[in-house]
Amino acid sequence: MKILILGNGGREHAIAWKIAQSPKCTRLQVAPGNAGTKEIAENLALDPMDVSAVVKHCKDNQVDLVVVGPEAPLVAGVVDRLEAEGIRAFGPKQAAAELEGSKSFSKRFMERHFIPTAGYSEVASQAEAREQLKDMQLPVVLKADGLAAGKGVYICLTEADVAEALDDLFVKERFGEAGKLVVIEEFMEGTEASLLCFCDGKHLYPMESAKDHKRIFDHDLGPNTGGMGCVSPNPEVTDRWMKMIEREILFPIELGFAAEPWEFKGILFIGLMLTGDGPKVLEFNVRMGDPETQSVLPRLKSDLVELIEKTIDGKLRKSDFKWDRKVCVSVVAASKGYPLTSTKGCLIEGVESCGELVFHAGTKSEDGKLFTNGGRVLAVSALGSTLDKAYEKAYKAMDAIQFEGKQIRRDIGK
Ligand code: AMP
Ligand code: GLY
Repeated sequence: MKILILGNGGREHAIAWKIAQSPKCTRLQVAPGNAGTKEIAENLALDPMDVSAVVKHCKDNQVDLVVVGPEAPLVAGVVDRLEAEGIRAFGPKQAAAELEGSKSFSKRFMERHFIPTAGYSEVASQAEAREQLKDMQLPVVLKADGLAAGKGVYICLTEADVAEALDDLFVKERFGEAGKLVVIEEFMEGTEASLLCFCDGKHLYPMESAKDHKRIFDHDLGPNTGGMGCVSPNPEVTDRWMKMIEREILFPIELGFAAEPWEFKGILFIGLMLTGDGPKVLEFNVRMGDPETQSVLPRLKSDLVELIEKTIDGKLRKSDFKWDRKVCVSVVAASKGYPLTSTKGCLIEGVESCGELVFHAGTKSEDGKLFTNGGRVLAVSALGSTLDKAYEKAYKAMDAIQFEGKQIRRDIGK
């Protein structure tokens, strides 16, 4: 099969690495990819958001399957367009991708189907927001409705935070169209967990759980990032929690999917808060997570291409999933200035000889040398029979990788 992956992050490198191991894959392309995908696939100068160009490339080159990494092309309807041309694509169609494309759509879906989540209201102006907030206690959470590249969420602990968020959203209009509607949520206390599920249109098949470390500094301090590391399984998700998640979250989602006019096929990423009142949904994403994928796929023993084909055909079974019991720790290295800015063009050394899996994100290769090319540069993923062993291996390898201004957290998985 000729397979094309859309995207250029660590997630897409991990997907490419896994797909390249499948005997079903005869040719692998990544658009646009990074220096890591270039080693195992053919990188294409193709913008995943240029849907017409993607469709044309697939037709001209007889691509058999397109795997969509990021959310933006899904929300833009790339799967609808590919399928209309008879090209198989992995990911939900536009109508279902609204679960990530619009917070309001996703909250309404949860409300309709009794899926536990934070209480919420929707507002379209500063005055409406003030009116709603009168009856609410701090902290509150304000969210731009549309896609905001992970930056549209404001956790407001004080009145000053609320004023700043409202100014950003309604006066500065920082998120343009995506911030015209704002969702105000109750603040939930608890522990976060990520659960990525395959969905074949009928049933959800959760992958192994994961824990994303979102803040830039150790002990969860400093600003939020795209993810500074991950561990799978999530040490907090015990069997007892998993049973509650199945009963209280996954089952109602399946019933909800059955009742909606659209169909969900692809990956549903459930961001969970494990609270004193049970598990609750923080958010839905309609694609794999980054950096969750870099910790989860190294533990998947099954053939990813087979799972993807069965998802598209609506034929998944629980027995299709085989997992490695080992723990995977993934540590991200970011460039100087991240998350506010990033530094490009710094020489990266030690990747080849570090001894563990390295998934590239913001990297570029020139004349056989590797350079930084973005905020999150790469991630080391290491498997170990215990969390401590995986941790030791991941950090030993990460310490062997050097570039100027390298930022890492020292407490991933801890
Ligand atoms: P989201 O993009 O909706 O997942 O929000 C990003 C992050 O903000 C989450 O991972 C949580 O850490 C935090 N967050 C979002 N909504 C809430 C909420 N209602 N209560 C507490 N924290 C939240
Ligand atoms: N790790 C969070 C996300 O992929 O959205």
